[in-house]
Amino acid sequence: MSRLGFRLSRSVLSTISPPIARAYEWAASYPATPHRPLLDMSQGSPGIPPPQVVRDALAKASSDTTGYRYLPVLGDEGLRQGLAVEMKRAYGQDSDILQEDVAITAGCNLAFVAAVMALADAGDEVILPIPWYFNHQMSLNLLGMKAVPLPTFASNGFLPSIEVCRRLISPKTRAIVLVTPNNPTGSTYPATLLDDFLTLAQEHKIALVIDETYRDFIPTGAPHNIFSNTQWRSNFVHLFSFSKSYCVPGLRLGAIVGSPTFLAQVVTTLDCLQICAPRQIQVALAPLLPSLRGFITENSAALQHRHALFRDNLPSTWIIGSQGAYYAFVKHPYQGISAEVVCKQLAMEIGVATLPISFFRDENGTVLNEEEDRWIRFSVANVDDEKVIQVCQRLAECDKIFGDGT
Ligand SMILES: Cc1ncc(COP(=O)(O)O)c(C=O)c1O
Repeated sequence: MSRLGFRLSRSVLSTISPPIARAYEWAASYPATPHRPLLDMSQGSPGIPPPQVVRDALAKASSDTTGYRYLPVLGDEGLRQGLAVEMKRAYGQDSDILQEDVAITAGCNLAFVAAVMALADAGDEVILPIPWYFNHQMSLNLLGMKAVPLPTFASNGFLPSIEVCRRLISPKTRAIVLVTPNNPTGSTYPATLLDDFLTLAQEHKIALVIDETYRDFIPTGAPHNIFSNTQWRSNFVHLFSFSKSYCVPGLRLGAIVGSPTFLAQVVTTLDCLQICAPRQIQVALAPLLPSLRGFITENSAALQHRHALFRDNLPSTWIIGSQGAYYAFVKHPYQGISAEVVCKQLAMEIGVATLPISFFRDENGTVLNEEEDRWIRFSVANVDDEKVIQVCQRLAECDKIFGDGT
């Protein structure tokens, strides 16, 4: 690597390097063959392309000679309106969600950055349950904000505690950020718990931000009732990703849903970060959203089936702590060996790419005990049914490397 003639930002140097890339480095040394390919359960990426109708609409939008202009910062009006309609279906027809509440962003990661830039300053604190979605903590660190860890445990289904959270709130706290269904644990937070978090946020005059990237993969109905509460705009900010529901991760589309008063400030952060989200996919998707409901429901059902296959075929010594949406969070059986060591060997020798719990928490934070340091995230969405079974078969080979777990 060449030497730089300038100093680098302290923020970037103190931020962890992208975890998925680290897992792929391990996987790169696996000697894959056509009979024994790498089985990649590391990334939370939809395993299938968007439907033909989306691809056709995208091609049409791309050949429109006026389609190369910028859009308004908050997005295409048709898509803002369309998303509001889809959300009323997802959260219940009594939900109070209007086009003016919706900002379209270049993905949900950018939605998070734009939202926190509008609600906190460098030096402020944001509470995140751990294990956390690493890009949230990385973004906060880059912005000079402090991610305050709110521990969650397998014994409680990895659900965050209101009481513990209350004790973490300080004069510097600006927001509590939750992810449900969760990445990495797959845990889906009950609607009542989310109501309690909103009340806590209201009591302390801070924001409750919920990243609901995986909201379409909850088989049991509406994710929560917050949008039916006419007061939701006072403290609630919802983040969404089109990447998973519509299988368009590379096309970069997400959303912030919040009070128009909040969005009036978000316009400033979004203008600097993106000017506008990619235009063609917005124009292509806007009229199609209602017709894609069946596609989303089928995908969600297929994922449920794959979770069941994973559960049924996993060697009995590997314990599922929680499972849902894209992920299964699994405790490996090898006492005294960290998940990171197991994931590395799994990738390099067994040809199964996964991510250890250490990638979803602060390296400088409290030390994990032996039991806690055995959790591994498997992205069930990233592979097909056949590969899920093959992964389970290969896990059974691990005893050869690590012993039989006793
Ligand atoms: C919780 C969560 N938020 C955001 C994202 C990123 O979404 P997008 O592709 O829309 O930026 C992911 C992707 O894995 C995620 O798991």
